[in-house]
Amino acid sequence: MEPSSSSSSSSSDTTSGKQLPVKEIPGSYGLPFFGALRDRHHFFYHQGRDNFFAARVRRHNSTVLRTNMPPGRFISSDPRVVALLDSASFPVLFDNHKVEKLDVLDGTFMPSTAFTGGHRVCAYLDTREPNHALLKAFFLNALANRKHAFLPLFRSCLREAFDHIHDALAKTARADFNAPFSRASFNFIFSLFCDGKHPEDTILGSKGPKLADTWLVFQLAPLATLGLPKLFNYIEDLLIRTLPFPAFFSKPSYNTLYEAFKAHAGSLLDEAEAMGLNREEACHNVVFLAAFNAYGGLKNQFPVLIKWVGQGGHELHADLAREIRSVVNDEGGVTLAALEKMSLLKSVVYEAMRIEPAVPYQYARARENFIVQSHDASFEVKKGELLFGYQPFATKDPRIFEDAEVFVARRFVGEGEKMLKHVFWSNGRETEEPSVSNKQCAGKNLVLLLCRLFLVDFFLLYDTFDFDFTQSSFGPIVTINSLTKASSSL
Ligand code: HEM
Repeated sequence: MEPSSSSSSSSSDTTSGKQLPVKEIPGSYGLPFFGALRDRHHFFYHQGRDNFFAARVRRHNSTVLRTNMPPGRFISSDPRVVALLDSASFPVLFDNHKVEKLDVLDGTFMPSTAFTGGHRVCAYLDTREPNHALLKAFFLNALANRKHAFLPLFRSCLREAFDHIHDALAKTARADFNAPFSRASFNFIFSLFCDGKHPEDTILGSKGPKLADTWLVFQLAPLATLGLPKLFNYIEDLLIRTLPFPAFFSKPSYNTLYEAFKAHAGSLLDEAEAMGLNREEACHNVVFLAAFNAYGGLKNQFPVLIKWVGQGGHELHADLAREIRSVVNDEGGVTLAALEKMSLLKSVVYEAMRIEPAVPYQYARARENFIVQSHDASFEVKKGELLFGYQPFATKDPRIFEDAEVFVARRFVGEGEKMLKHVFWSNGRETEEPSVSNKQCAGKNLVLLLCRLFLVDFFLLYDTFDFDFTQSSFGPIVTINSLTKASSSL
């Protein structure tokens, strides 16, 4: 896919304010149990997730509709949702007066609290639960207190990852991208919260990412498919979506992670206690923050970013390299101020997050009866109904973004910045900030910074690269085939 150099604008900014006719929400859940089973087979095996939703939008001629979401019985007690499949209806998920976000992080089911030391950690808490504000304030302060470490620490983790890829390419002519950048993500977040301690100098050794992966997979397996040949689909479905995996399968991995943070995140846990939190509960929350929220998000984000930049082609690479090198030269180094001046770089990162949000599903429950609007109609949602937003359909809504399916590198440059309010990757608008009274990602600004730094260091080292990728349930798996060292001729 070639990048377009034009900046895009809204074709229809928003429909809010218009009086739209109230309609019944179309779609049906089918027979109890069997309806959910049929829908999840369509979702994972017959249609795939994009076609699953697109087919229903076409059938009902509506972007707000009823459907079941996986995994269904017996893992979730109720698979029925109202799906929001456009940019007009999706933001109601951010309105914490209208919706409750209690135990809905993973959707229609919640893994046992035995995965998190018996605690309901912050990401599962609703904004009206007092512990949410306390824990979110702890996280936001923890990040603010460590902001001076972001740049040097992440750049040192990046160096290790680039060296690794470089060495692998020298040996085999093909280098896996995901593993070294998963490791960079894990090492960064561990060191950040543990006063600069490298995880490999602790009981974790080099196993940190693996331990986190094991713990994550037992919680999230019901939402995934291995993409095996058709013959194995029913076996896979039966194995991972009949009953939840018990937490004891991942207990040893979790306990090792917990002990490592308990031993080395002393100053962070002191901060938690000073804010009135129980030290042990805070430590379980820190493990979740680091291994689920941060590592789980970032390990998919960097492959998404390199995939879209890679598909942007050599011309985009040259433009990025030119902008990055000239600003770094003018500013005398890689600084926060320098990053702010890189308008193409910033736009490219936003555009990757728009076109392929790393966390594509969001859920929330109606606190009361209310009206939700698509571009064309209004629908009454009843108190207690579960709302589900499929984010790629919201941020690739053709009634908001021109060429919505195309990666437009300069989409958010200049006037294009006005469209940032339609970018939702952080569970909130890009123009809003995480706070104790919302459920927006606490790491929003950190994630943007890390993505920018990744591209800055990449294009300081290299002019261009060749790659290929395959798409898995959780994101792209990228292989680097060649790297062209930075020349001075750009
Ligand atoms: C690319 C990486 C990341 C992505 C895509 C991402 C995305 C998200 C999303 C979509 C949510 C809302 C989930 C929901 O309630 O439906 C969320 C929540 C959260 N994220 Fe992130 N996140 C990332 C990295 C991080 C990092 C680095 C941190 C902190 C170091 C972090 C901390 C949190 C926390 C604490 C919450 C829960 C907020 C609350 O309960 O109010 N995330 N994130």
